[in-house]
Amino acid sequence: MIKRKDFYFKKAKKEGFLARSAYKLIELNGKYNLIRKNSDVLDIGCSPGGWVQVCLKLHARRVVGIDIEKAKIKDSRFEFVNEDVNEIDVAKLGKFDVVLSDISPKTKGFFDSEESADLSRKAWKIAVQVLKPKGNFLCKIFQGAEFDEFCRELRKYFYFFKISKPKASRKESREMYLIGKGFLGDTK
Ligand SMILES: C[S@@+](CC[C@H](N)C(=O)[O-])C[C@H]1O[C@@H](n2cnc3c(N)ncnc32)[C@H](O)[C@@H]1O
Repeated sequence: MIKRKDFYFKKAKKEGFLARSAYKLIELNGKYNLIRKNSDVLDIGCSPGGWVQVCLKLHARRVVGIDIEKAKIKDSRFEFVNEDVNEIDVAKLGKFDVVLSDISPKTKGFFDSEESADLSRKAWKIAVQVLKPKGNFLCKIFQGAEFDEFCRELRKYFYFFKISKPKASRKESREMYLIGKGFLGDTK
């Protein structure tokens, strides 16, 4: 376990990524082709900015990131919204081809799976309002009581739906990534 952590941590440092989680997005995007050249992307829970860096490298046109913590990216294509997802005015964000969510609570030695599920659900509530038709959604959620219900709900809104655990995700972590492609619209 420590070896894998060291591997991705060192790789991120060497390759200039702000977070080892960048490799999760690289792998998932390689498999599912979510972000394309000129995509407009919303990144929910974006700090410090590893996923934003990946989106910019993939030639996204515009990346909007939301987080309560500061983001460490300065780029003309990146707009940072330093706010809590529970208080955000969704109407001001615009519309997106891709919505990403890696949001999770700050752990203070104790992981609250209910708080985490609430944040993932909140990210989905935002996504459903800002995704363009045929848009793509990627969302982290921890396996817990809410997991199956959340998957059932999401699956209805997309042409293609998959659950995945990338290699950079620690084996002992209960986090999973849900992939929805081809948003069918908020008609359910
Ligand atoms: C695992 S980190 C994201 C890492 C990011 N994907 C990257 O590559 O740098 C989860 C983020 O969710 C954010 N977060 C947690 N609760 C939040 C809330 N209520 N509103 C906005 N962001 C929140 C945390 O501040 C943290 O930066």
